[in-house]
Amino acid sequence: MKSVALAFTIAVVTCASARAETCQNFSASTLKMNGVVPADWRTDYPKEYPNPRDKQPWELVDFATQPIEYMNAVLIDARTSFHISGRKLVGTGQESWWISEWLDYGTSGREPLMGLTKERGPDPGDLSETNADGYQVWAVGFYNRPGAAVLGDVFAEPCNPSLPVALKFPADTVSIKFLFTDASTDEVTYLKDAPEFDALIDVPGSGVISRPVDQRSSHALRLLQVDISVKDTRARDTNWVFGTYVWRGPPKGDKLFDNLGPVSLQWGNDPKVYDTSVQESWINSDLYKVTYGWDKRLTMGFMGRANGPADNIRSSCLSCHASARTPRASVGILDNRFNMAEVTVPAKVKAHIDTWFQNIKGGQLFQPFEPAVSALDYSLQLEAAVFRMCVACQAGDLRGTTPNVCRTSGFYNRPMCSVPIEDGARKLSLETMPPSRQ
Ligand code: HEC
Repeated sequence: MKSVALAFTIAVVTCASARAETCQNFSASTLKMNGVVPADWRTDYPKEYPNPRDKQPWELVDFATQPIEYMNAVLIDARTSFHISGRKLVGTGQESWWISEWLDYGTSGREPLMGLTKERGPDPGDLSETNADGYQVWAVGFYNRPGAAVLGDVFAEPCNPSLPVALKFPADTVSIKFLFTDASTDEVTYLKDAPEFDALIDVPGSGVISRPVDQRSSHALRLLQVDISVKDTRARDTNWVFGTYVWRGPPKGDKLFDNLGPVSLQWGNDPKVYDTSVQESWINSDLYKVTYGWDKRLTMGFMGRANGPADNIRSSCLSCHASARTPRASVGILDNRFNMAEVTVPAKVKAHIDTWFQNIKGGQLFQPFEPAVSALDYSLQLEAAVFRMCVACQAGDLRGTTPNVCRTSGFYNRPMCSVPIEDGARKLSLETMPPSRQ
């Protein structure tokens, strides 16, 4: 009897510290599955902003001239915060990294074992010269203390988030994102002998296909890519520096951070640069013929800009992220129809670059001629979170008063969630929302 009571007390304490702020009117979390203890990432966002005068290790390094040193300095804190335990990526429990609310809903919603959301399924030839179609990519992203303090403000009322017109993350905000794939190591040979992780994902072959959540089952994934983003005021034109690493065998050291090789770093989109002479991205040429350098993927991102193996060659890190706003612009976050055979047609290239590769300062709005409730300062997680919450409200999976942001953004305009909308009105659906990074 005594030990039962003790176990119960511990469970309650863990719950209260890590998940206290979750919306209680929401019943359809994809993290909840019978018999599975969900991943225990932190959502107890810090109440106070750290002192901006505290110097961070990467502030001593110039990202443009010393990209590798810069990236490694950003990774220092993560190295001691995350590790592999069994077939899981876990934190120390005290890590200074927090996940976003509201990514645990719908067909790409967080699975329970590691809290992964479903990402864009790579095209054949994206990950390696020979990778086939249909592989899945799943990921989990975190914000550090300054970034999580912003999440704390946004989600102070977890069933009714508040978004300012121009959201701004403070200097030294860092986000880190781990991306996993089920791609075959015969095709993606740099992943050979990589540690395996278990997650409850879609049936093999479901790369870009959405499947009902109750059809998910356990499959092995390998770490493919680790993304970082840093709010760095020295990046004058965008205020952000984005970069990525690839997991590259053979396994060594902790088999996690010790296997990461830097792929690219980006502090601007090189607007009006219509050839490959880009200056605001760095690409690691050691990875020629490893992560790029074949017909289907001549470069990492569009015409030599930064991107990772899992990313779409028509874009770049900053291109997609600069378009973060709620609601999304009508053109979306990426033009997936750009035909890569037309990179030799100057007029097509110019139109693509002029739309997608502007330098937008954090807090400014992409496509400002279309009104928005909020410019999201490069956070596509917040964009996805708000959209999913509004779909949940419309579907009746979130009950009670409609969150303000769903009404002001035009996503769902009834005062109460789950009141049927008139015929002909726009019906929201997670199916119409492209999976992340599409
Ligand atoms: C095609 C669009 C696209 C591209 C290209 C892209 N991302 Fe993202 N990224 C997303 C979306 C959508 C999310 C939010 C959903 C999620 O986390 O799964 C996201 C989330 C993130 C996050 C979590 C915090 C946030 O800002 O939402 C980080 C960090 C990140 N991406 C870094 C990168 C880096 C680094 C690159 C380039 C190597 C990159 N991304 C390229 C679409 C993109």
